[in-house]
Amino acid sequence: MTPRFDDSSFTVAIVGCGGFIGSHLLDAVLERTRWRVFGVDLDFYRLQHRLNHERCEFLCADLADPAVVERIAQFPLVVNLAAICTPSRYMGEACEVIRSNYDHPAALAEACAKSGAWLVHFSTSEIYGKTAADSGELVEDSTPAVFGPVTASRWSYATAKLLAERFIAGLSGLRWTVVRPFNFVGPYMDFMPGVDGEGIPRVLANFSTALLRGEPLKLVNGGKAKRCFTSVHDAIDFLFALFDAGLGCALSFGVGDSPDAGCKTAAGAGLSGRDAAGELKVGVTGASMVGAAPGAGVFSQAFNVGNAENEVSIAELAQKMRAIFAKVRGVDVSTLPEPQSVSGEEYYGAGYDDSMRRMPSVAKAERLLGFRARIPLDTALEESLSWFVKHYDVAETCHCEEP
Ligand code: UGA
Repeated sequence: MTPRFDDSSFTVAIVGCGGFIGSHLLDAVLERTRWRVFGVDLDFYRLQHRLNHERCEFLCADLADPAVVERIAQFPLVVNLAAICTPSRYMGEACEVIRSNYDHPAALAEACAKSGAWLVHFSTSEIYGKTAADSGELVEDSTPAVFGPVTASRWSYATAKLLAERFIAGLSGLRWTVVRPFNFVGPYMDFMPGVDGEGIPRVLANFSTALLRGEPLKLVNGGKAKRCFTSVHDAIDFLFALFDAGLGCALSFGVGDSPDAGCKTAAGAGLSGRDAAGELKVGVTGASMVGAAPGAGVFSQAFNVGNAENEVSIAELAQKMRAIFAKVRGVDVSTLPEPQSVSGEEYYGAGYDDSMRRMPSVAKAERLLGFRARIPLDTALEESLSWFVKHYDVAETCHCEEP
């Protein structure tokens, strides 16, 4: 453990602590550091095993309350993961989506600018907009963004997220880092409709639900869109690389420090990461640490966090998940229903639109933080689907009609 992770007087505030990424981050902070955690969310059902942990304090609240925002900003490191981020909601709930993804983060950013906290803000790969099937790598500081028309309310989320990024970048005195996730997958992602959530979750939970219920997987517009799915464990390792570099460049870092304090120091030493088999390597310049350049900065930067080697079309994803499900269940894949194509409008409602390809450039995270995602697609999918089957099988049994 590097000294900065060994500091038991340090507290990280995790906003959205009860969510998919937040719950993994909480576990990792408790396992890899001696820090305390101030966790904020509207529900904590994923955190039952942590609720009485001696190093955790939880607050059931959201960022609509200015007093909550002020309180969060008193901690030296604030990670904001709170967001409405399921595409099925971007159409019918556009205003709520914009409030959650612009108004609330903007208020938190202003409070952090005043207090001196380091804000690690989770944005989205969707800020690259309506990318075409032949679009290339999306580069943080040079790729232009094109969005669909105002009638295509799919883009309510992306434009709110993009505005939040711009607001954060424009705030004087704020020490910030923006993270743009590329389709993170893993245990606890989203929900199972009718069991612990309503509506349409993102594709992985949707396909997992259909497989568990023996229903056909729905391919929106034939499943031609492509995504680079990234294991949530790689995402957490990225955050630790970021924390290590950011806190390492200002060892006395705390609320009230100048945002420029020591922020140009080299990253790389003592980071943690995973090897190709997904095994955790802590505190070494290991397989996923690919030589951070001296003089790199971590503040005032947006980073893609994705695995460019895990690109797959949604139709291919469906076939992979059918095969994994058949293996997990010990059945012949030919007994599972074939996927079915459905139009986007029919499936999600009016205003749906799509990005056809989302391929991250990972060069900046490698260059500035020495980080590269390593967990292969099949490993990530198998872990996610196996977890889903185990976690929801009982719930499904309970929902079965009496014979
Ligand atoms: C969503 C969010 O909007 C992003 O902000 C977020 O960063 C991203 O997820 C993510 O997880 O990182 P998107 O990639 O479009 O964006 O999310 P999904 O709902 O998982 O859809 C992926 C693709 O699968 C889309 O082309 C969608 O049309 C398709 N899809 C989805 C299906 O074919 N069938 C389904 O049942 C669900």
